[in-house]
Amino acid sequence: MKIMVVGGGGREHAIIKALKKSPKAEKIYALPGNGGIAADAECVAIGAKDIDKIVEFAKSNAIDFAVVAPDDPLVLGAVDALEEIGIPCFGPRKNAAIIEGSKVFSKNLMKKYNIPTAEYEVFESSEDALKYVESCKIPVVIKADGLALGKGVIIAMTREEAVDAVKSIMLEKAFGESGSKIVVEEFLTGPEVSVLSFTDGNVVIPMISSMDHKRAGDNDTGLNTGGMGTVAPNPYYTDAIAAECMEKIFIHTMNAMNAEGRTFKGCLYFGLMLTPDGPKVIEYNCRFGDPETQVVLPLLETDLLEIMIATSKGELKEDLVKFGNKHACCVITASKGYPQKYESGFEITLPQGTDADFYVAGAKLEGGKLLSAGGRVLGTTAIADTLEEAIEKAYTATKQIKLENGYYRNDIGQRARLALKK
Ligand code: AMP
Ligand code: GLY
Repeated sequence: MKIMVVGGGGREHAIIKALKKSPKAEKIYALPGNGGIAADAECVAIGAKDIDKIVEFAKSNAIDFAVVAPDDPLVLGAVDALEEIGIPCFGPRKNAAIIEGSKVFSKNLMKKYNIPTAEYEVFESSEDALKYVESCKIPVVIKADGLALGKGVIIAMTREEAVDAVKSIMLEKAFGESGSKIVVEEFLTGPEVSVLSFTDGNVVIPMISSMDHKRAGDNDTGLNTGGMGTVAPNPYYTDAIAAECMEKIFIHTMNAMNAEGRTFKGCLYFGLMLTPDGPKVIEYNCRFGDPETQVVLPLLETDLLEIMIATSKGELKEDLVKFGNKHACCVITASKGYPQKYESGFEITLPQGTDADFYVAGAKLEGGKLLSAGGRVLGTTAIADTLEEAIEKAYTATKQIKLENGYYRNDIGQRARLALKK
């Protein structure tokens, strides 16, 4: 089969490496891919949001199956456009991708169908929002309605910060038009768990759980990033909690989307917080997480392409999805300065013969050299029988990467390791 993967980050590299293992995968294209992905797929210089060109490419290259990985093209309707010309796809249509594309939609969905989440109010006028935060409980969480590159969430620890957040999102439009509506919600506490699932609208099959590390610095200090590392499984996510989430969250969400006439097919990502009152949904994503995918898919023992095809046909079955009993750790190497201003164009030399896999995110090939070209440059994933060993192997390989301007967190997996010891 000729397969096309839309996207060009570490997540897409992990998806492509997993797809390559399928005996059915003859040729894989990445649109646009990146300098590192080029080792595993043919990269085509078409941007992930350029839907017309994506459709044109699929048609003229007789693509048999497409995987649309990032949020933007999904929310823009890439799957609808590809399906319209008869190309089967993995990923939700536009009317289902709204579960990530609009936080107002997802909060209202959860309220309507009794899915546990933080209490909230929606505001379309900055005056009403400002009045509300003058007297609401603090801390409070303020979220821009639309996609904001994972940055549209402000946790206000003081009333002053809450007022500033409303002003910056609604008046100064810090996240553009995605901030014309906001959700103001209750501040929750507890360990966070990412659960990616495959769903075709008939069944929902959770993948192995994972833990992201969102802050830039060790011990969860510094600014929020797209994710600086991950481990899987997440030790806080016990079998009992998994059963509770299945019953109260996953199945309800699938059924709710069906009832709304918005059947979700693809990877539905549940961002959960395990609060003292039970698990609650912090966010939904309409796609694989990054860098969660870089620890989840390497633990998948069955054929990803088979799963994706079955999902698109509405024929997903439990026995297609099997995960091993191992642990994975992914350490992201980023450009110094990320998530703020950083320089790129530095040569990346990957070590040979390590016991780890590299998933390249921000890199380009120039004159046969791999150069950094983004904030998050690459992830190093190791797998082992224990979490401790997976962490050690991932760091041993990460330390051997040569990248002048790189940095990484030193404590990926440490919180999970301590939780396992309890
Ligand atoms: P999101 O972009 O929705 O994943 O939010 C980014 C991060 O903000 C989450 O991973 C949480 O750490 C935090 N967060 C979001 N909503 C809440 C909430 N209601 N209470 C506490 N923390 C939150
Ligand atoms: N790692 C969080 C996300 O992909 O949204």
